[in-house]
Amino acid sequence: MKKTILITGATSGFGKAIAQLFAAQCYHLIITGRRSGRLNILKSELENQAASVTTLCFDVREKEAVKEALLSIQDRTIDILVNNAGLASGMSPIDEGNISDWDLMIDTNIKGLLYVTKETLPLLRKSKTPHIFNIGSTAGKTAYRNGNVYCATKFAVDALSQSMRIDLLPYGVKVTAINPGMAETEFSIVRFKGDEERAKNVYKDIKPLYAEDIANVVLFCATLPEHVCINDLTLTCTNQANAIYTIRDSEKPKQL
Ligand SMILES: NC(=O)c1ccc[n+]([C@@H]2O[C@H](COP(=O)([O-])OP(=O)(O)OC[C@H]3O[C@@H](n4cnc5c(N)ncnc54)[C@H](OP(=O)(O)O)[C@@H]3O)[C@@H](O)[C@H]2O)c1
Repeated sequence: MKKTILITGATSGFGKAIAQLFAAQCYHLIITGRRSGRLNILKSELENQAASVTTLCFDVREKEAVKEALLSIQDRTIDILVNNAGLASGMSPIDEGNISDWDLMIDTNIKGLLYVTKETLPLLRKSKTPHIFNIGSTAGKTAYRNGNVYCATKFAVDALSQSMRIDLLPYGVKVTAINPGMAETEFSIVRFKGDEERAKNVYKDIKPLYAEDIANVVLFCATLPEHVCINDLTLTCTNQANAIYTIRDSEKPKQL
């Protein structure tokens, strides 16, 4: 029987790549995001490949909107929830931080993830094989300079993944935290508020992860035998060791 996957933040980056890969694997898709135009384009693209796609357009920060969206599909069963919607906004020392940026990151990355999870759980618990993926980050494992509040939100995702795994144990819900390092998506453009040059510079002279890499890892974790759960998976590109240490190709010694 075909499984159903709900992906938050499917209009770009990891979420979009996960939607495309799972559509190719014949899953039913429920794709969400704030940009309805992009959701509709992705829906037509995937439906042209014979996938079945439902779109839900809402902002994860708005708890009533989240509730309403999930209520509209309450007859469905969800097998996989991917809590992917998230962002970094700004990058500055804590004493120069912008409070609106802090609110935006905390409201999206922590509270949004909680609202979506709470409203999706009744549909997940109808599944025989319920699985939650939380997209964390290497920033949720090690804090880095000027990353303060973004890192704090991803540390929170790490804590929530651990807690969900414990609390949902009686219901057989797998909880997998995926913690990517630097990946070239719209992430840095959003972080630097549309400054494409600055965003591009983050990946200069580096072969970063791509959204498809994260999608492949999610598919791998989602298709393991029923008794196996990958709890926590950190992946980086080979130019990166962790949230702090990255080497550009031009900095590498000519010969080891
Ligand atoms: N790229 C990286 O280097 C990296 C590394 C580690 C972890 N991550 C994490 O991976 C996740 C996906 O990021 P990405 O790299 O794929 O970035 P992206 O290309 O900017 O995609 C972010 C997605 O999140 C959605 N989103 C943001 N705020 C939202 C809100 N308030 N309500 C609903 N949807 C919202 C966006 O959709 P709309 O704008 O249409 O709402 C978009 O689809 C994030 O949680 C990010 O923190 C990224």
